[in-house]
Amino acid sequence: MDRTLIAAALAASIMAPLTAMVYAEGEGSRDALAPGSVSRVAGMEAWKRIEAVVTHPRCANCHVNAGGIPIWTPAGETKSRVHGMNIHGGASRIGAEAIPCSTCHMTSTLPNDPAPAPPRAGIPWQLAPVEFLWYGQSGAEICKQLRDRARNGGRDAVALLDHLRHDASLSGFIPRGWEPGEGRSTPPGTFEDHVRDMAEWGAAGQPCPE
Ligand code: HEC
Ligand code: HEC
Repeated sequence: MDRTLIAAALAASIMAPLTAMVYAEGEGSRDALAPGSVSRVAGMEAWKRIEAVVTHPRCANCHVNAGGIPIWTPAGETKSRVHGMNIHGGASRIGAEAIPCSTCHMTSTLPNDPAPAPPRAGIPWQLAPVEFLWYGQSGAEICKQLRDRARNGGRDAVALLDHLRHDASLSGFIPRGWEPGEGRSTPPGTFEDHVRDMAEWGAAGQPCPE
């Protein structure tokens, strides 16, 4: 290999992982599958895998009701319970009314430290909006919320994929569910599996259990 080739190969190998993280508007449509190309049965199977993710503590602990009290699962425990230290998200959902979440949960793209250090993300730590309620809900209820544009931030199936990619480009809460810091369990599969399942579920017409 001559020098320029080596330089080009090096540049490509350095750029590949970087460009994978750069988000372009509407990128989720690249993951989308043609509507109707996935059967209802396969869509329901995809939903079962999605359900195991969205009901997992790494996801559900922030998607709480209007009470605004975050949930945590301290290392070594398997059951989720009310966040210690009397923390309250308030109407702002970022704790602005009392102790802001950011007092402990840093905004940083650095990897998470092992539990019990407070987890962090590349975007400001906060509870999910009240309508995006998952904690304590059944899989069927969460499924209906996720496909209801009045309660999911106005997102159709492709826009949901977009949200996953956009969040990942910011080192947001979703990919970090699979990199929560040593000592914390992770949802089944990988982030990429979850994107694929959401694409299949969407293409099948977002079927939900009754
Ligand atoms: C730190 C708290 C937090 C955690 C942990 C978290 N989320 Fe969220 N989630 C949010 C916030 C805040 C929003 C609102 C963002 C927006 O709509 O732009 C949100 C919105 C969403 C949405 C948009 C649509 C909807 O109906 O909810 C999806 C999908 C989602 N989260 C998936 C996940 C998944 C999957 C996980 C786990 C891998 C997860 N979240 C973990 C805070 C969190
Ligand atoms: C005084 C420090 C402090 C403040 C303020 C704080 N937290 Fe936490 N939080 C922690 C610590 C420490 C942990 C990790 C506990 C463990 O894993 O043992 C944690 C864990 C969590 C978890 C569990 C994450 C997971 O993956 O299961 C959620 C959700 C959470 N906090 C939400 C919030 C929200 C929302 C706010 C603001 C309303 C907030 N926290 C404010 C210290 C804090």
